[in-house]
Amino acid sequence: MFGLNYAEITGWGKYAPPLLMTNDDMAKVVDTSDEWIFSRSGIRQRHYSHVSVGEMGWLAAERALAAAGIDAADIDLVVLGSTTPEEICPNTASFIKNQLGATKAAAFDLNSACTSWLYAMNVATDMIKAGSVKKAVVIGSERLSLAMDWSKRESCFLFGDGAGAVVIEATEQKLGLLSAHMSCVPDSRECLHLPSWGMSPKHMTGDIHVSLNFEGQEIFKSAVKGMADSIAEVLEREGLSASDIDLFIPHQANVRIIQSLAKRLDFPMEKVVVCIDEYANTSAAAIPLALCDALADDKVKPGMTILTASFGAGLTCGAGIIRWSDRVVPLGSCDAEIAPYEGTVFDLMKDSFNYYGVDAQHLLSK
Ligand SMILES: CC(C)(COP(=O)(O)OP(=O)(O)OC[C@H]1O[C@@H](n2cnc3c(N)ncnc32)[C@H](O)[C@@H]1OP(=O)(O)O)[C@@H](O)C(=O)NCCC(=O)NCCS
Repeated sequence: MFGLNYAEITGWGKYAPPLLMTNDDMAKVVDTSDEWIFSRSGIRQRHYSHVSVGEMGWLAAERALAAAGIDAADIDLVVLGSTTPEEICPNTASFIKNQLGATKAAAFDLNSACTSWLYAMNVATDMIKAGSVKKAVVIGSERLSLAMDWSKRESCFLFGDGAGAVVIEATEQKLGLLSAHMSCVPDSRECLHLPSWGMSPKHMTGDIHVSLNFEGQEIFKSAVKGMADSIAEVLEREGLSASDIDLFIPHQANVRIIQSLAKRLDFPMEKVVVCIDEYANTSAAAIPLALCDALADDKVKPGMTILTASFGAGLTCGAGIIRWSDRVVPLGSCDAEIAPYEGTVFDLMKDSFNYYGVDAQHLLSK
């Protein structure tokens, strides 16, 4: 038992896969345009990964540990938030733990779709507050490119791949995730789902290709309301109002959802971190990726009060208040890398295009 009351964020790191699928690339594969996608969603491009959720998550975590200046051997817990782990048994967090050399750490995966990282942060923070863990790595890593259905132009442009991670450590100072609220909207399970993704007798038929189903406008409305309710809850718990918030880092699913939420909270967009143009929706990775970019862009200042909010399939929702410490620069960096893919984004995706009958032969490099 350690008896310390808070869990300060001491390190952060990300991995954005190098291959880009721009909106113009997307328009070569489905009937769409950069103009339509950008105006409806705020997305310009997405990164597609040639490596697994575990490998992306490992590199983000390796970078977060270097930023915190701590040894993997000192970590007590590795939590992976993800909807798309390549393995479910054994869990993917144990792969990351082994790759890191976090020999004494416990490891588990947590899936609440796009809210997975926020849920995981809340769980790991509470474990630190309870005294059972002293140092933890909390990762969000996703490879949703593998779940895109190229016969559905209304959804295939929305998602991208990537990973982000933070290190949290026990402290007596009032820092880190001070309050979080998690919820799950009743009767909204069907509006966003990946049928066939998981163990079921359907797998005996051999046809297990995953295809995302969703009702965009239904999600849009539920997301804005669900996040607004969770935000109201955490603000009240901390005795704060929207004007006390220095920076807002929301889930990046659609810039119009972010704008609607900011309007509802009467919160200026200048204080909102938006990076959906760069990454699209990276699900569990979206908030830690946005946090890393906000730090790199000097948007996070010492002592800031940061609001975060997320939603995802379930519909799971959540919000949190983070108090940043006085350090906004990494203590160190790491030179670990993932070897790049030898080919184009069309080469990478060719099996998926083939499955959905997209004629992409002329786009391949060889
Ligand atoms: C998906 C989303 C961007 C669609 O925006 P929208 O304004 O609701 O657009 P609609 O679905 O009403 O489609 C409008 C029109 O564009 C067309 N369209 C759909 N996808 C298109 C595409 N990629 N390119 C061009 N046109 C497209 C539709 O066919 C429709 O045409 P019609 O008016 O002739 O019937 C929006 O609903 C959304 O972002 N929802 C939330 C999704 C989400 O966040 N999911 C993940 C949760 S973590």
